[in-house]
Amino acid sequence: MGRERIKIDLLIHDLKVPLAVIEAGLTSMMNRPEKYGPITEKQKRVFDRALRNTKVLKTLVADALELGRSGEGIVFFSNFRLADLIEETLVEILDLTDTGMAEKLKNCKNLTQFKKTLEAKGVVLSMGEDLWKQEICQDETKIKQILRNLLNNALKYRKSRLELHVDCKQNAIIFSVQDDGAGIPAAYHKRIFDCYFQLEASNTCSVRGHGLGLAGVMVLVEDLGGEMRLESDEGQGAKFLVKIPLKTNHQ
Ligand SMILES: Nc1ncnc2c1ncn2[C@@H]1O[C@H](COP(=O)(O)OP(=O)(O)OP(=O)(O)O)[C@@H](O)[C@H]1O
Ligand SMILES: [Mg+2]
Repeated sequence: MGRERIKIDLLIHDLKVPLAVIEAGLTSMMNRPEKYGPITEKQKRVFDRALRNTKVLKTLVADALELGRSGEGIVFFSNFRLADLIEETLVEILDLTDTGMAEKLKNCKNLTQFKKTLEAKGVVLSMGEDLWKQEICQDETKIKQILRNLLNNALKYRKSRLELHVDCKQNAIIFSVQDDGAGIPAAYHKRIFDCYFQLEASNTCSVRGHGLGLAGVMVLVEDLGGEMRLESDEGQGAKFLVKIPLKTNHQ
C-alpha cells in the first residue's frame, strides 16, 4: 500500500473512536432515564435522527476501510448463514429511514413473517426457505457492502417497489436487485460504474449521492472473483445482477 493511501486510511480509521463515543452517549441518554432524566417525544425524535446518522457515518467509515483492504487483495473467508446476511443488511438500510421497521424485522420469527413485514415497505424478498437457512463461505463484510449499496440505490431511485432475489447455483451465489424507477438508458450502462458518474438529476430522483457506490461495488465484486451485470431501459426500472463464486467450507 502506498504511503499516501496509508495516511488516508489511518485518517478514516481514526474517525471510528469519536463516532463510537457519540453513539454511546446518544444511546445512553435515550435508554437510561434513571440516570439522565426523562426525555420528551420531541427530544426522542432528535436523538433518533442523530443516532441514525451516526450509524450512516459508521457504515461509510467501514466501507471506505473495506475498499482499501480489498485493494490490497485481502479477503476474509468465513461461514455464515444467508438469513443473517440478508436480515442484517436489510435492517441496516431500512433503519436509516424508519427506526420502527428495524425493530419489527428483528422480531420476525420466520421467513414468511419477515417477507410480510418487508412487503409493507414495498420490498419483495424472493428466496426459498432452504436458501434462507443455508450457510455459505465467502467474505461476509464485502458481500454485505455490495448488497447494501445496490439496495440503497434501488431504494433511492425506485418509484415504489424493490425486489431482492437470491439464488445459489453451480457453487455461486446470485443476487438480483430490481426496482421500478426511471431506469438507466443503455448509453450509460458502462459509465455508471465509473467513479463520480451520475445521471442528470432530471433522469432520476432528487436525492444526490456521490457517484461512488457502484464503482466501489464493481471493485469488490471483481476482487471476489465475481461478475456484475445491469439490465435496464429508460423508464423501465433497473436490475443489477451479481454472481459471486463460493468457497468450499472454511473450518
Ligand atoms: N437503481 C438505479 N436506478 C436508476 N439509476 C441508478 C440506479 N442505481 C444507480 N443509478 C445511477 O447511477 C449513478 C451512480 O450510482 P452510484 O451508486 O455510484 O452513485 P450515487 O448513488 O449517486 O451516490 P453514492 O456515492 O452515494 O452511492 C447514480 O447517480 C444514478 O444516476
Ligand atoms: Mg449509490
